[in-house]
Amino acid sequence: MSKETPRVVFVTGGNRGIGLAIAKSFASDGDLVIVSYRTGTAPDGLVGVQMDVTSQESVNDAFAEIESRYGSVDVLIANAGITRDGLAMRMPESDFSDVIETNLTGAFRSAQKAISPMIKKRSGRVIFIGSVVGMMGSAGQANYAATKSGLIGMSRALAREYGSRGITFNVIAPGFVETDMTADLAEPLREKYMTQIPLGRFCTPEEIAAVVKFVASPGASYITGAVIPVDGGMGMGH
Ligand SMILES: NC(=O)c1ccc[n+]([C@@H]2O[C@H](COP(=O)([O-])OP(=O)(O)OC[C@H]3O[C@@H](n4cnc5c(N)ncnc54)[C@H](OP(=O)(O)O)[C@@H]3O)[C@@H](O)[C@H]2O)c1
Repeated sequence: MSKETPRVVFVTGGNRGIGLAIAKSFASDGDLVIVSYRTGTAPDGLVGVQMDVTSQESVNDAFAEIESRYGSVDVLIANAGITRDGLAMRMPESDFSDVIETNLTGAFRSAQKAISPMIKKRSGRVIFIGSVVGMMGSAGQANYAATKSGLIGMSRALAREYGSRGITFNVIAPGFVETDMTADLAEPLREKYMTQIPLGRFCTPEEIAAVVKFVASPGASYITGAVIPVDGGMGMGH
């Protein structure tokens, strides 16, 4: 489907998993979608730009490339993320700082670059992919949970800074989603998590994409600073 004025939608970590589902969903609506990939190449049929969110230079280069080729970003989905799970007593400092550097600082770097032209245009949507874990905590994920809580505070600070410029900032908080990130979960742990999910199943990446697309749509123009759970009820009350 083509749009008269397609929006420039940039999905970080859009080469697989949740990011890829989000990218495909916007593309099917006629938006001009760019995905970043850190390793490998762009997925078939999508425009790609190489970017490592842990490097300011790489983020600067990627945004410069996007802006020169396609124009400034209208919708940023800060999705790139990693896990380095382990109990806190045994967690190497590097596993803590690597996750912060990717999930939180990387999201800040991406948002900072996207916001600048949005301020001039007086419109824009920034959507951070958080996690239910950012509100509930999760044993063995002190690093990851800290980043996902951090995204909430950061998003709300930005919502206050740039609300008057017509830019919204929101966090989507998925529960367990079937992707590479959760593929290695041991079966007993999987079953344990399943008992905590009222809907009794893990989420599909497409179910996350549907909510992201709504938050980027005109219908969500008055939603900012929100945390929107897509977790099958797992995080209720948090
Ligand atoms: N799966 C879940 O259950 C779940 C639940 C809640 C929240 N989330 C969040 O959803 C987001 C996507 O997760 P996913 O399950 O789709 O994970 P995934 O399948 O492991 O994909 C992660 C994506 O992030 C990219 N990435 C990682 N480090 C990067 C870096 N330094 N620079 C740029 N890109 C980087 C990866 O690129 P490469 O392919 O190049 O490595 C990949 O595209 C993450 O923020 C995650 O925390 C996932």
